[in-house]
Amino acid sequence: MKIVHVVGAHPNFMNVAPVIRALARRVGITQVLVHTGQHYDANMSDIFFQQLGLPESDINLGVGSGSHAQQTAQIIARFEPVVLEYKPDLALVYGDVNSTVAAALVCAKLGVRVGHVEAGLRSGDRTIPEEINRLVTDQISDLLFTHSADGNANLLREGVAEGKIHLVGNVMIDTLVRLLPAAEAQWHMGPWATWEGRPYMLVTLHRPSNVGEPLMLGRVLETVAEISRRLPVIFPAHPRTRECFDVETCKARHPAVHLTEPLGYLEFSGLQRHATVVVNDSGGIQEETTYLGVPCLTVRENTERPVTVSSGTNVLVGQDMARLQAEVDRVLNGQARRGQIPPLWDGYAGERIASVLAGIS
Ligand code: UD1
Repeated sequence: MKIVHVVGAHPNFMNVAPVIRALARRVGITQVLVHTGQHYDANMSDIFFQQLGLPESDINLGVGSGSHAQQTAQIIARFEPVVLEYKPDLALVYGDVNSTVAAALVCAKLGVRVGHVEAGLRSGDRTIPEEINRLVTDQISDLLFTHSADGNANLLREGVAEGKIHLVGNVMIDTLVRLLPAAEAQWHMGPWATWEGRPYMLVTLHRPSNVGEPLMLGRVLETVAEISRRLPVIFPAHPRTRECFDVETCKARHPAVHLTEPLGYLEFSGLQRHATVVVNDSGGIQEETTYLGVPCLTVRENTERPVTVSSGTNVLVGQDMARLQAEVDRVLNGQARRGQIPPLWDGYAGERIASVLAGIS
């Protein structure tokens, strides 16, 4: 069986690694890794490949940045000849980024079976581009790998046949389980070692709804700066975020806000593990903090990962900055919510996916 994996943006790299590893242990499977090039900076892509032990991609489509339509269209146009040349039996797509939906469309139209890893996640908010990517990808996929029971329920409600859905657990957590020891080692040797035992708030924000609106970005930065007076802040900023404000001025004005470039996986995981609280607007970070038992505040009105709120450590604060402050105070007063790790978030999701695929080949 020939399987093509398609990845493009950095959360995909953490998703694909355990699946490639699990499939490599099976006989009779050839794997081809396609990187669309959606993320192309060394610190958004290469460092993840190295730290996750991913093989170099067999093909890089080099699409780069652009509007959603441009980026999606470029991936479609450049990926179709690859599928025609390699003639895979199955394509695996990951998560909810533009690369995911574009690759799924190409394969579905060419009659190549599509497996979607991280299927069934729904926020119910169609103003978020990723929600459109999720809806479309799931409708045209043949195998839907979910990481929690709510994903199965969402898919069934949308008319997906039950036989296509496989609850396998969370591949993002597979990667975390495997690499936590390396992240710990890096923490002790790296520049953050002096933070051992010191409380701090880890911040990461990149959604257009937070950083693309100058008014909202201003309110968030003001609030973060205010919090930094009682709890130091470490803030690795995504390239999109750095484009939206004057990093040097912020550094000069707010010495307790430690702004850095985007960090590698190991460095960031170490920082998450030791943080007092994590503030984010991401997807995977809501899951990783739940696994690590670290309080997580999410600057979004909704989440496609509700299990992190119902069982985990995640609290949705929306765009309400007073709420963000109040929740930070709750954490500092020892009133943080204690969560539980959802079932099957155990390090073996990649193995379960490989078992399902072995059964269909
Ligand atoms: C993408 C995903 C998002 C995911 C995020 C993780 C979509 C719709 N969004 O958002 O779900 O949470 O990745 O990081 O697919 N840029 C660089 N260097 C890079 C990549 C991007 O400078 O290597 C800059 C460019 O200015 C670009 C902007 O970041 O225009 C946005 O990049 P893009 O891939 O379009 O979306 P992300 O915000 O990264």
